[in-house]
Amino acid sequence: MVNGVSCDCKEQKKYGEILNIIDLYKDKEGSLIQILHAAQKIYGYLPPDLQQLIADSLDIPFSEVSGVVSFYSFFSVKPRGQHTIRVCLGTACYVRGGKKLVEHLIKTLNVELGGTTSDGKFTFEVARCIGACGLAPAIMIDDVVYKQMTPAKFSALLEKF
Ligand code: FES
Repeated sequence: MVNGVSCDCKEQKKYGEILNIIDLYKDKEGSLIQILHAAQKIYGYLPPDLQQLIADSLDIPFSEVSGVVSFYSFFSVKPRGQHTIRVCLGTACYVRGGKKLVEHLIKTLNVELGGTTSDGKFTFEVARCIGACGLAPAIMIDDVVYKQMTPAKFSALLEKF
């Protein structure tokens, strides 16, 4: 408790780490993306307060930071799950059952597209092609690709997480 206000020390520690990263990169060219990557890794996502902190520290407008964050799909402004599931909906996967996998996932995990499960375990997204068209439909969980996926195989796989 500091001045009658409870301290979220974990939060402050993360902000401190991010400020250190900003100090490290601030004078380097193209540093904004590197800083945003590092900040997302430390904090988990990039809420407006954190984007403002980065903008102030780099002495650039908030709109420049938020523009970059919204342009790149790998930046998130919402808390993300522990694991990211991406179902491929590229043409090959779509025609071989990708859409069924999406429906199965929505029903099984009770999560919307782009959303995170209530237990914070999975964030659910779709991808356009993950380079496994020959063995479609494919999905990714974090950095691992799983091919020839079926709803039953998907459920069994999720049990392992
Ligand atoms: S279309 Fe799905 S992996 Fe290429």
